[in-house]
Amino acid sequence: MNLVDTRGRTLRDLRISITDRCNFRCRYCMPKEIFNREYEFLQRELLLSFEEITRLTRVFTKLGVDKVRITGGEPLLRKGVETLIASLGGLGLRDLTLTTNGSLLSRKAESLAAAGLRRITVSLDSLDAKVFAAMNDVDFPVSDVLEGIEAAATVGLTPVKINMVVKRGVNSGGILPMAEHFRGTGHIVRFIEFMDVGVSNGWRLDDVVPAQEILETINDRYPLEPVEPNYKGEVAGRWRYRDGAGEIGVITSISQPFCGDCTRARLSAEGVLYTCLFATGGIDFRGPIRDGASDADLTAMITDIWERRTDRYSEMRSEATVNLPKVEMSYIGG
Ligand code: GTP
Ligand code: 5AD
Ligand code: SF4
Ligand code: SF4
Repeated sequence: MNLVDTRGRTLRDLRISITDRCNFRCRYCMPKEIFNREYEFLQRELLLSFEEITRLTRVFTKLGVDKVRITGGEPLLRKGVETLIASLGGLGLRDLTLTTNGSLLSRKAESLAAAGLRRITVSLDSLDAKVFAAMNDVDFPVSDVLEGIEAAATVGLTPVKINMVVKRGVNSGGILPMAEHFRGTGHIVRFIEFMDVGVSNGWRLDDVVPAQEILETINDRYPLEPVEPNYKGEVAGRWRYRDGAGEIGVITSISQPFCGDCTRARLSAEGVLYTCLFATGGIDFRGPIRDGASDADLTAMITDIWERRTDRYSEMRSEATVNLPKVEMSYIGG
């Protein structure tokens, strides 16, 4: 069965956050001043168990979801993540993947692949050791993430995608070096416009480098041509090097919003379902699950939520929406 919302968009993807914790403190996501010792992360008993996540995901697959992405915070911090991957792997999904900061990847790539993960996306904002350390704000060495990326490729978690969030004046000088480094490796770098997610990342329009500018920077040196999307509603716009050295992507939530094709729902680590990355509220599933809701009850809840869905935040973004009390990136998982 397929669910269609008020704007004709079908539910296809589920992004599942499995922890709101992270070992990085990226300035644009978890600034230290806010995510400090006093910050109240979710207590363990509030997190959906792997059994609860798998059960709920099975219900989602009956409603048309065929792509699942595991997110965080940093998902590889959750103990036993391989167990969850293995059980989600039994649901017959078209795509099962994960977005990570790469810090634990050189250690975990093999067990993730063995558990049935198909591919992986690694966040990497700079190749410059200093810039990278300043952006993650915990002095994490870029060399460890690069090792993680290679470990992932070696065990076949391919194509490896590399996410670079571009902030003007912070890492924007690294656009061309990033493109250059991964040209010809088979890995796909995606350049992401810095977004106004949450309320604590100090977003300003001036910090955004529009995708057009990013593409021009690369195209001037390595000519590019557009590629058709892999499927309707793909988040990244695809481009390939004319010389055959591979492809890149741009994610244009600010300069060219893509809400018209948005097929994504998001489940927080504590079991709240959101129908937009920029939502100010969601619907709790943990309560009903722990109170004995049947699969039919869960199906009815999801159906009701999706059929009423009207979200198109990026298309409506304005001075007023930027200051809404939106959920944090580290909580909703991007
Ligand atoms: P693929 O499955 O490989 O296409 O991955 P993806 O691009 O959907 O997921 P990923 O976790 O790599 O996210 C890349 C960037 O796109 C992140 O900054 C996300 O926050 C952002 N993103 C993903 N989905 C949406 C969306 O529905 N709306 C907006 N505005 N941004 C999104
Ligand atoms: N804008 C754009 N992308 C962001 N990410 C985290 N915060 C932001 C933001 N404010 C990226 C991460 C990760 C992906 C899930 O989202 O770098 O790659
Ligand atoms: Fe952690 Fe990713 Fe947020 Fe950085 S962007 S603080 S790595 S969750
Ligand atoms: Fe979907 Fe909301 Fe992103 Fe628009 S802003 S593409 S509705 S998640």
